[in-house]
Amino acid sequence: MPLDTKSYAVPVARSAAALRDAVAEWRREGRTVALVPTMGALHDGHLSLVDLGREKADRVIVSIFVNPTQFAPHEDFSAYPRTEAADAARLEGKAHLIFAPDAADMYPQGFSTTISLTGVTEPLEGTFRPTHFAGVATVVAKLILRAMPDVAIFGEKDWQQLMVIRRMVADLDIPVEILGGAIMREADGLAMSSRNVYLSPDERKAAGQLNVILRETAAHVAKGARISDATAEGARRVLALGFDKIDYLEIRDSGSLVAYPDDRPTSSARILVAAKIGKTRLIDNMPV
Ligand code: PAF
Repeated sequence: MPLDTKSYAVPVARSAAALRDAVAEWRREGRTVALVPTMGALHDGHLSLVDLGREKADRVIVSIFVNPTQFAPHEDFSAYPRTEAADAARLEGKAHLIFAPDAADMYPQGFSTTISLTGVTEPLEGTFRPTHFAGVATVVAKLILRAMPDVAIFGEKDWQQLMVIRRMVADLDIPVEILGGAIMREADGLAMSSRNVYLSPDERKAAGQLNVILRETAAHVAKGARISDATAEGARRVLALGFDKIDYLEIRDSGSLVAYPDDRPTSSARILVAAKIGKTRLIDNMPV
């Protein structure tokens, strides 16, 4: 299948072959390549990753694929916003190529491989979404192996995902540099997310509290508070006033995501949170 150059101003590859041909041509011209994997419904947070891609490489590919294997059966796979034309318009003048395969291209009949990691996948998100990271790791490996970019860029909002991808790339000797892009926030501090569109006006107002609580807890710990259950428990209690369900709010080692056994950070610490407001599950994190 050749490149689709007619639908939008940014050309679209819908198959691995079309993607590889485009990248091969750039390589012949001596150009470097960045990949920004996304599930579409692009917001300014994604666009900041694309801007970072342009700083780091000559050509930027944005993949748009709502990956079924990272959603559990009860999650929002079918409701997840699909806005390809609007996404393509947002990428005009920013990305050089969109890679938008369909599920049959990514997972053809007989597909049987899953990449599953231990350790960093297990706590936090792993407790609540036990099959999620295997889906993420498998699709990200496929996207990277198809595009063979010099750098691949992921948002820091999904901090644990970023740690999982770094681990996988190191373990499997995949020759790509993994970069994290800073979290982009709305005026009240809510981390930008494609799922924010699910929030009703009242829920949207309450959701801003997530960032306030993270900032206050980070400041409290930075002032010397022990990283004890009491610190996290205090934050969870305040969060519970505006949120319907807290999956976790934990202060962990930034890299391994393990808890500090003696209540004192021996390495860089990070607060990670996942909480539900109405039907919408929001995640966020902040360094201490
Ligand atoms: O962060 C996301 O949008 C997705 O998990 C990713 C990395 C594109 C894989 O589907």
